[in-house]
Order: sequence, then structure tokens, then C-alpha cells
Amino acid sequence: MSTDPGRGEGAPRRGATVEFRNVSARFARAGGRQGAAGAGGVMAAVDNLSLSVAPGEVCILVGPSGCGKTTTLKMVNRLVDPSAGQILIDGEDIAGVDPVALRRRIGYVIQQIGLFPHRTIAENVATVPRLLRWDEGRIRGRVDELLTLIGLDPGRVRDRYPGQLSGGERQRVGVARAMAAEPPLMLMDEPFGAVDPIVRARLQDEFLRLQRTQGTTVLFVTHDIDEAIKMGTRIAVMQQGGRLAQYSPPDELLSHPASDYVARFVGADRALKRLSLLTVGDLPFERGGAPAEARLPELTLSTTVRDALAAILASPAQAGVVTNGAGEYLGTVTLATVARAAREGQGRNGRLPEGGASHGRTGGPAPPPSPLGTY
Ligand SMILES: Nc1ncnc2c1ncn2[C@@H]1O[C@H](COP(=O)(O)OP(=O)(O)OP(=O)(O)O)[C@@H](O)[C@H]1O
Ligand SMILES: [Mg+2]
Repeated sequence: MSTDPGRGEGAPRRGATVEFRNVSARFARAGGRQGAAGAGGVMAAVDNLSLSVAPGEVCILVGPSGCGKTTTLKMVNRLVDPSAGQILIDGEDIAGVDPVALRRRIGYVIQQIGLFPHRTIAENVATVPRLLRWDEGRIRGRVDELLTLIGLDPGRVRDRYPGQLSGGERQRVGVARAMAAEPPLMLMDEPFGAVDPIVRARLQDEFLRLQRTQGTTVLFVTHDIDEAIKMGTRIAVMQQGGRLAQYSPPDELLSHPASDYVARFVGADRALKRLSLLTVGDLPFERGGAPAEARLPELTLSTTVRDALAAILASPAQAGVVTNGAGEYLGTVTLATVARAAREGQGRNGRLPEGGASHGRTGGPAPPPSPLGTY
């Protein structure tokens, strides 16, 4: 693990690999008398967890409250050390890595935001770049770039303190701070929980766009299965007692839940949820010809099939026209087309292209490899 801060501006980089090998975390039971209580006084927050995350993947941890999601993240940057098992980053057992050096190369968005209250917003975002001794001009540029990205006007918020922002704004600053030094690995604990649905969708999209460009590996905790399906290349469904119930790409999770527990967790509407993994461009819709009716809802090739279905259901003719976005007619999608897709399933999501560095669903170009552990 080198500590070289001198990576060239804009140089492509690649995400880290993360591997959990039979990892457990045990805590003394609340109220339990340690020592006197023996094994009965200890509970497993994480129980024999094994999973691998490839470079550039977004691994989502979902599960009910208390199932060990936060503990799993905290073991990756050594805020909690495993009671058993190993965690490897880029093949190296982190038990032997200095926690401070480790944390500098990992972006961390904690569940309760955790901004430094006596530092300004700009100082908060600049935390890691400053530790890495970036020059002031570069830091300032990066801070303003990130604040703009998360939808906050740098001129308005740069010199404020966290207490002078709303909860949702603070949460966005937490995301910007974790992204500041473009770490090869990010740990995000319910990062978009406190923002409204519209801002949330925008942050999710922006984050995915950046994550794809930079090839960052991400471990991302959420309670929200829809967010998991949207963001994840792979989803780890956990259950009480810190056990892994299934670890699969979203499409597989929805089409082949491994147990009744997973099926219940992903929801009875899982066939419908799968439609959000498909776009109209994936459908075998009838191309060419003239639209049968002029007043059909307009869809484009990138409209999700779920959105297309909503539009089709709302249209009297139960169909929609597909255009190229500039008004040129390409074909028609009917309710029957959607029903067929739901039955057959044509999800491409989660199947990483070779090299595994891009987000499967959107098929963006994989960033070229670059040396790992660059700080
Ligand atoms: N430091 C600790 N000492 C004792 N028990 C702990 C500690 N940290 C977590 N736990 C317990 O371990 C279990 C898992 O906690 P964790 O915070 O990982 O859950 P979580 O899945 O993140 O839950 P949530 O969705 O509510 O955030 C819980 O029962 C919790 O009470
Ligand atoms: Mg938690």
C-alpha cells in the first residue's frame, strides 16, 4: 500500500478488490456481563461472511435493521476488527495495515453523516486531499466541483458550518467529502437516506455516472430494495444474526431468490421490479410502420420498461410509441410486449462485461487499468 499522493490529474484509475473470508464480528450482548456471561453473553453481529467484490462493482448490502450491515462496512476500514476471518483489499489482509493509512484510501460516508462541526463545509470536503498534501489550488477546485455536483452552490455554502445546513444538505456534503480524493474504494452507509426522492434520484444518477468514470469499487448499505436494484451490480441480502442469505446480481436476485426469506425481502412485486432493469431498447417491439393512433404516450429507447408500463397503462389504447427522442417514430410497444418481457426476462443487469469494471446495466466503457493503491 503506497502513500503516493502524486497521481496525475485526471489519470484513470481502477477500483480496489475486496474479499471477506469467513468473517465474523461478535459483541458482548447489551446488558450482558462480560467474562462472567461466557458464550451466552456474546452475540454475532456478522456471522461467517464470505463474499468478493471485483474492481468497479457496486456491492449493495441490504437487510433489516440490526442485521450487521454497518458492522460489515466498519470492518473494511478497521473501525471494528473481525473476531474471526480475514478481509483482503487488493489481495492484502488489512489486519496488518495501519488503520490511518488504510482509511486515507477509502472514502467513507457514515450513517449519521459525521461532518466535523467546527470546520466549514469546504474544510470538511477537503479533509483527505489535505492529508494527501494536494496543493491549495487543486483542493479548492475539487471542493467547488464536488459541491456543484451534489447540487449545492459553492459560493453559498463553502464557508458555512455544518450546523447551518439542513440534514439533507449535510448528508450530501458527507458524500462529497468521501469522494474528494477519488478513492479506489468507497463505503457508503445509507448515504441518500435523508434527502427527498427527487434529489435522491439525481444523486444516485450522478454518483453512478462518476463511479463508472472512475471505476471506483463501492460497498453501499441501504434499507431500500429499489435503491439496491438501481445502484447495485451485486446485492448481498443479509438476515438477522449477520448471515448472508444471497449474493447475486439484481436480475438474478429478482428472478431466482434463494429462499423464502429473500423472496419476501425483495417483495411480491419482484416481476414488476425486474422491469426497471430493462429499457424499451431491450424489448422486441414492432418496428416501423405508422403509429396507429396519434395520442399514444411517447417512449424512447432508454425509457425503463417499468416507466413504459406505467405510461401504457395510463393510455386508453394500452400502447406507446417509441421515438428516437427527437420525435422520429421507431415503433410501437403494447401491453402484450411488456407482459412477454416480464415472463421471459431479458435483464442484462449485473452481468459485468469482461474486465468487470463497468456498471452492467448501462454498459459504459470500462476504465483502463491503472496501478492500485495509489495513496
Ligand atoms: N459496538 C457494539 N457493541 C455491541 N453491539 C453492537 C455494536 N455495534 C453493533 N452492535 C449490534 O450488532 C448488531 C448489528 O448492528 P449494525 O449496526 O451492524 O446493524 P445494521 O444492519 O447496520 O442496522 P441498521 O439498519 O439499523 O443501521 C445489532 O444488534 C447491534 O445492536
Ligand atoms: Mg446501520
